[in-house]
Amino acid sequence: MFSISTYKPLIDPIETASRDEIAALQLGRLKWSLDHAWRNVPAYRAKFDAAGVHPDDLRSLADLAKFPFTTKADLRDNYPFGMFAVPREQVVRIHGSSGTTGKPTVVGYTAGDIQIWADVVARSLRASGARPGMIAHVAYGYGLFTGGLGAHYGAEKLGCTVIPISGGMTERQVQLIQDFRPDIIMVTPSYMLAILDEFRKAGFDPRGSSLQIGIFGAEPWTNAMRGEIEQSFDMHAVDIYGLSEVIGPGVANECVETKDGLHIWEDHFYPEIIDPETGAVLPDGEKGELVFTALTKEAMPIIRYRTRDLTRLLPGTARSMRRMEKVTGRSDDMMIVRGVNVFPTQIEEMLLTLDALSAHYQIVLTREGRMDEMAVKVEARPGAGEAASAAGKLLGQRIKDKIGISARIDVLPPDGIERSAGKARRIVDQRPKG
Ligand code: DLL
Repeated sequence: MFSISTYKPLIDPIETASRDEIAALQLGRLKWSLDHAWRNVPAYRAKFDAAGVHPDDLRSLADLAKFPFTTKADLRDNYPFGMFAVPREQVVRIHGSSGTTGKPTVVGYTAGDIQIWADVVARSLRASGARPGMIAHVAYGYGLFTGGLGAHYGAEKLGCTVIPISGGMTERQVQLIQDFRPDIIMVTPSYMLAILDEFRKAGFDPRGSSLQIGIFGAEPWTNAMRGEIEQSFDMHAVDIYGLSEVIGPGVANECVETKDGLHIWEDHFYPEIIDPETGAVLPDGEKGELVFTALTKEAMPIIRYRTRDLTRLLPGTARSMRRMEKVTGRSDDMMIVRGVNVFPTQIEEMLLTLDALSAHYQIVLTREGRMDEMAVKVEARPGAGEAASAAGKLLGQRIKDKIGISARIDVLPPDGIERSAGKARRIVDQRPKG
């Protein structure tokens, strides 16, 4: 792991511009984006009309609050290409998010959008400590998911040698890391843990690997998980955030020198935090639902998109652009168990303080009569022996003490929990619907 005390960040001037300069740029771009959406996407025009607003009503950044939100339902209703603001022939790429049911949500990019996306991902890589000439192992999935190709174009743009391995075939991932000696790995944090297990199984020392920087995202992960990965691999672990509807990975990224939350690339993406119940805009520092407006997107402008991700906005530190706190969870992932709100990340934090248990986990919800039951499946670390069941008991106690609900802890042998090559499935909800 390289030392931060001698580290020199590589920064674009806009990343450290004054707040006034950033706000002026945002206002100009926001006007363009609202106008572009209103002129070219009938669905936006209908929504603006219904809300009684017109792009000319935006005189200050705060006026954005007058405009209606966009949700996943708007994208579904206009499936597949109805949200595009340019003729289909100008769309050079389609991506989509899988979703759990039904049709994917479709997003599109012009050649210009692809350039901007590559720029913001290249900037994210630089913020993570990556430099031209490094080797980047991209283990995010390639395909309709934005992770693989998004990371790929950004890493190429920065001037890295890119290994487009995609997700899966863990043994081969480890072998190629040993053979090609990449400096950077880009992958979901949960799949990084599967790679870690495979390192050990193959008899390689993960701390002796060539990896210096991991750029992890696409799912929530805690600072406790960062500690686990950094210790195990002797590398820096940095958080990258994004979503397909807004562009893909590269909406925000941590700076390796501070690791204190993700700087939002505010010259392209305008953030707001709202009260998820009332839709009211909350001041910086307050926790709520993150909403994004793309400022420069041509093919598919996105206005006030409700991400469902819960976080808060914080002032800039390593850059003047504002930060978002590490996402603790999506509102969709909030489990309500016997009336108590629980997020998987709360369990993750507690789990990672227990040495006899590994960092893999899954939560299973069932209902007995009228009572919700929560079981947490965890795994013994190889060689933990008796200590694992004691640690399981302790985890149950801590959940009871800190969250206030009784959970059954199932301590499985190593490898007992299914692995995913992409986003982990943390919650299995077997409760009857309705
Ligand atoms: O997951 C884009 C991405 C790819 C981001 C690779 C980072 C790295 P979607 O499949 O559309 O896009 O899923 C977006 O994933 O709304 C969050 O709930 C979650 N998510 C993404 N990054 C993070 C993160 C990609 N760093 C959804 N922390 C988002 C927590 C994240 N959650």
